[in-house]
Amino acid sequence: MDGERVETVSALQDLLLHDPAVMERLLLDLSVNVTAMFRDPSFYVSFRENVVPALRTYPFSRLWVAGCSTGEEVYSLAILLEEEGLSDRVRIFATDINEAVVDRARLGVFPLDKMQEYTQNYIRAGGTRSFSEYYVARYDSARFAGSLVDGAVFAQHNLVSDAAFNEFQVITCRNVMIYFAQPLQEHVHRLFYESLAMFGVLALGQKETIRFSPHERSFEELDAEERLYKKIS
Ligand SMILES: C[S@@+](CC[C@H](N)C(=O)[O-])C[C@H]1O[C@@H](n2cnc3c(N)ncnc32)[C@H](O)[C@@H]1O
Repeated sequence: MDGERVETVSALQDLLLHDPAVMERLLLDLSVNVTAMFRDPSFYVSFRENVVPALRTYPFSRLWVAGCSTGEEVYSLAILLEEEGLSDRVRIFATDINEAVVDRARLGVFPLDKMQEYTQNYIRAGGTRSFSEYYVARYDSARFAGSLVDGAVFAQHNLVSDAAFNEFQVITCRNVMIYFAQPLQEHVHRLFYESLAMFGVLALGQKETIRFSPHERSFEELDAEERLYKKIS
């Protein structure tokens, strides 16, 4: 109500029903976009151990980062793939329900004052180079090399209402479904099951699980802690 300068809920409702831009702004305000580069570094250590060897077996593969927020996770994975010599063979698809954060993700510009924390995360994630090689500092921003995400697709996509749009060898979806009730989680699990190639990997991170999902039996656990699962049927 404050943001739209109206006095009552019904006035806000009226605006929402008649102006799609108001709905968009409300959604922007409500979605939780907290993220970080190399967030939960042990996830990336496990990704190197459990997913990279599988990716090496494909001449070409697709990685979907679902719920990518402002792109920190996308650039972290792109750096990992670059260090593993896989950049040219893996195409990243980064999606989020919130178009404004997808636009920011595309730019790859993050706050400079976060770089110290992200450098520590990068080292703990098994990074092998000097982290500052990947960005150029300008005023209070760090601009990451656009070449890291060459060929990547950034798009708005709603996990709850939009359909499957491709077949993937890897899907990562971390810190997204924690906000969903059980029926919504089941819906998204079905979407991921349908979008994964046979023997593809679903990477959920420490806070989510495939347990209780209707597709639990179709997956083999690769890492119980980091919640990495391989589709086996
Ligand atoms: C807390 S952030 C997590 C970002 C990143 N995956 C990470 O782990 O750092 C959650 C993201 O999920 C997105 N999200 C929420 N509901 C969604 C939906 N139905 N479809 C796609 N993305 C959604 C939000 O917009 C937000 O950017």
